[in-house]
Amino acid sequence: MIDVSFINEHLTPESNFYNKIYYFDSIDSTNSEGMVKNYPYFSVIIAKTQTSGRGRSGRIWNSKDPDNIYISFIVPPFETKKLLPLNMLTAYSIVEGLKNIINLKIKWPNDLVVNRKKIGGILLESKFYGNKLEKVVVGIGLNVNQEFFDKSLEKIATSIFIETNLKQNINKIICNIIVSFEIFFQQFLKNSIDIIEKWCNYSENLGKHITIHINGDKKTFIEKGITEYGELIVLDESGFEKKIISGDIDL
Ligand code: BTN
Repeated sequence: MIDVSFINEHLTPESNFYNKIYYFDSIDSTNSEGMVKNYPYFSVIIAKTQTSGRGRSGRIWNSKDPDNIYISFIVPPFETKKLLPLNMLTAYSIVEGLKNIINLKIKWPNDLVVNRKKIGGILLESKFYGNKLEKVVVGIGLNVNQEFFDKSLEKIATSIFIETNLKQNINKIICNIIVSFEIFFQQFLKNSIDIIEKWCNYSENLGKHITIHINGDKKTFIEKGITEYGELIVLDESGFEKKIISGDIDL
């Protein structure tokens, strides 16, 4: 059960997120809520379940299981060119925040994976005023205590419980994520973190052959790295380097 008092008690009053936790038993989507309404910067919107959870590329994010985490942070604006890198930073901060519980890897751009199965994902959405960013909503879905998945998903999805055989305190996991995100987000704002280097340490596919789906096309490359803007650098069959801005890599 999500416990807002527990979460606040485990954040320091100096935290920007302190006392800005907004909890819903059920909501359409914590990201939509954050995009549509005027929550203060550094708000945390949490839901036990979502009725229209959204994933990347217009996909549905299965959000019926109350044993998982559905959470969105409202963060203040920064330079637009850092939007894609914030995806990297968010994934990295979750991996760091949970490393005492589980060893996660990141599949470009920001899928959280373990044992080649997806355990969580990130959906960044932003609002512009003219050509300037006004706010950014960082949505995180993480499978925590879910015990099993439908046949159609069990080969590609997993949860912390399935991987560790331990039930987790969902409130502690939420605190770990908030605390870790805040530390690295502050460094990100000050340009004092080399997120590319950090991200590469946890990359699932660096140096490996990958299959990417881009606009209905399927192509094979070797993953070489990411640029400072978060684009994927790959080598094609002839050894030519290419940059990829969006696409889905097979697990
Ligand atoms: C992905 O496709 O990998 C991203 C999934 C992001 C899901 C989270 S759950 C909380 C927030 N609210 C949403 O509707 N989506 C994000």
